[in-house]
Amino acid sequence: MEPLEGKRILDATVGTGGHSEVFAKKLGTGTLVAMDQDLEALEIAKTRLKNSVCQILFLHSNFSRMKESVQAGDVQKFDGILMDLGVSSLQLTDSDRGFSFQKDEELDMRMDKRQPLTAKGVVNTYNEQSIRGLLQEYGEEPFAKRIAAAIIHYRRKKKIETTGELASIVKQAVPRKAWPKHIQPETRTFQAIRIAVNNELESLKQGLAQAVELLDARGKLLVLSYHSLEDRIVKQFFKKCDPFVFKILTKKPLVPERAEASQNPRSRSAKLRVLERAA
Ligand SMILES: C[S@@+](CC[C@H](N)C(=O)[O-])C[C@H]1O[C@@H](n2cnc3c(N)ncnc32)[C@H](O)[C@@H]1O
Repeated sequence: MEPLEGKRILDATVGTGGHSEVFAKKLGTGTLVAMDQDLEALEIAKTRLKNSVCQILFLHSNFSRMKESVQAGDVQKFDGILMDLGVSSLQLTDSDRGFSFQKDEELDMRMDKRQPLTAKGVVNTYNEQSIRGLLQEYGEEPFAKRIAAAIIHYRRKKKIETTGELASIVKQAVPRKAWPKHIQPETRTFQAIRIAVNNELESLKQGLAQAVELLDARGKLLVLSYHSLEDRIVKQFFKKCDPFVFKILTKKPLVPERAEASQNPRSRSAKLRVLERAA
């Protein structure tokens, strides 16, 4: 990692503060702006970073409102911006936030609890066509039609309340012979509903557009994505940036080395793309 002493960093997805802890140690007199839409994660990050020397501003905000949110602080231009996309393990497995089919809990999936739309809302109120569409678009689910029909059929008798109920509806809708080899049959459905609930792809587009505006000369935007839908958006966005102003530093995305991927299974699908603003 290059020297960060005195720099200004925006961690737009601070989560529980793993990356920010590393930044904070190296920033010295610099500034860290730590943003997340998940208040629970932000509180953990605050505790983790409380002894840092650098100046830190915590923002409970969606990065789709990155520009207006950073106006709350003294720093308006950054030397580095990090967007580490998707869900955290806090949301997925370490809490009862209703994201995971590994546990049976109330269906929720909101990263930001202030928003009214939950996963329960999606599966119980969206019509069949909308459910099918989002499973196809956000989950690339080959059995979208059958799963959407099964959801509608189930909810005629009973509201879908829990992750366990949804998982079993999906498992019954997908023929056993067609269950994917490396993932659970309900993985794509859960991903799709999570993306819909949190409006993830639209927020990403808006966040990227604002992030490049907040970069100072020689400032870098680093984006870590975990599935092809996100990575495609990042790649296309970088390509569309004015080549006289922005340089793509990663012609191909950087992926974790085998050792790192085996230590941290979630990083297996990670792709890092970096863009730099000209001097
Ligand atoms: C992979 S985790 C980040 C982990 C973090 N880099 C760390 O080292 O602990 C992704 C985080 O991004 C947050 N997030 C996702 N989309 C967001 C958005 N549109 N605006 C703000 N935060 C978002 C999630 O709430 C989650 O905490």
